Amino acid sequence: MENDTLLEARHIQMTFESKEGGLHVLEDISLTLAKNEFVCLIGPSGSGKSTLVRILGGLLEPTGGKLIYPGGREPDPRAIVFQNSNLLPWLSAADNVALPLLVQGISKKDARAEAEKWLDLFGLGGFADEWPNNLSGGMAQRVAIARALIQKPQLLLMDEPLGALDAMTREQISLELMAFRERIDATVLMVTHSISEALLLSDRILIYSGRPARIIDDMKVPFPRPRQPELRDTIEFMSMSKIIRKKIFGQES
Ligand SMILES: Nc1ncnc2c1ncn2[C@@H]1O[C@H](COP(=O)(O)OP(=O)(O)OP(=O)(O)O)[C@@H](O)[C@H]1O
Ligand SMILES: [Mg+2]
Repeated sequence: MENDTLLEARHIQMTFESKEGGLHVLEDISLTLAKNEFVCLIGPSGSGKSTLVRILGGLLEPTGGKLIYPGGREPDPRAIVFQNSNLLPWLSAADNVALPLLVQGISKKDARAEAEKWLDLFGLGGFADEWPNNLSGGMAQRVAIARALIQKPQLLLMDEPLGALDAMTREQISLELMAFRERIDATVLMVTHSISEALLLSDRILIYSGRPARIIDDMKVPFPRPRQPELRDTIEFMSMSKIIRKKIFGQES
C-alpha cells in the first residue's frame, strides 16, 4: 500500500438478510482513497451507495471483505454528511455545529465561537440561534456540512448532501464546496447524482453498476485545481460530461 493512502477497501461485499432471503447489495467493491483526495461516487438509485458510505464510516460491518488502514491507523475523526441534514431539532444551528467539539471535550465557549465562525463562512451568521425547523433545506444542509467540517475530519463522507435541494441552491452550495475544497485538509468521498458536480469538485470519479454494485469505472478528472465556475462552460468540461453520461447510461441499456 502506498504511503499516501488513507484507506483501502478490499473486496467489500454486503448482503442484507430479510424474510424473503438475502438482498445482495454490494458485489465486490475495492477502492483506495489517497490522503487529501476528493472522490465522487455516481451510481443508480438503490445500488448501495449509502450502504458503502456507512461501511466506510464504520457504522456498518460488511458481510465480506475488509477495510485496511496504512500502519493500522484509522482515519480520525471521520465525519459523515447524510442525505438529509439530520440536525438535532432541540439544538440551535450553532449548538448543532458546536456539538462535535463539545464531545471532543472543548469548552462550551470555545466551541460556540468556532461554530459561529463556521456558520459565518457559510453565510449563516445571522442564524446561529435559529432552530433547525425554521431553516430552509439549503440552510439546514449548510449547517450539516459546517458540523462536519468543524471537526477537521481526516475522512469526510458526504452522501448526496445536496440531493434534496432545488437546482439553484444546489449549484450555489456546490460552488461554496468548490471554494472550501482548497481550504480543507481532508480526504473526501462524496456520493452525487450530478455529473457536473462531480466534475467540478472531484479528483476522481467512481461509477457504480446497478445492484449488486461493482465499480465499473474509475476516472481521473483532468482539470487542474483550484477550479473556477467558468470551467463548466468549456468544451473540455462538456466533453467529459458526455463521456461519463455514456458510461452511466451505457451500463443500464
Ligand atoms: N439496513 C438495511 N437492511 C435491509 N436492507 C437495506 C438496509 N440498508 C439498505 N438496504 C437496501 O439496500 C439497497 C441499497 O440501499 P442504499 O441506500 O445503499 O442505496 P443508494 O444507492 O444509496 O440509493 P439512493 O440513490 O436512492 O440513495 C436498497 O435496496 C435498500 O433497501
Ligand atoms: Mg443513498
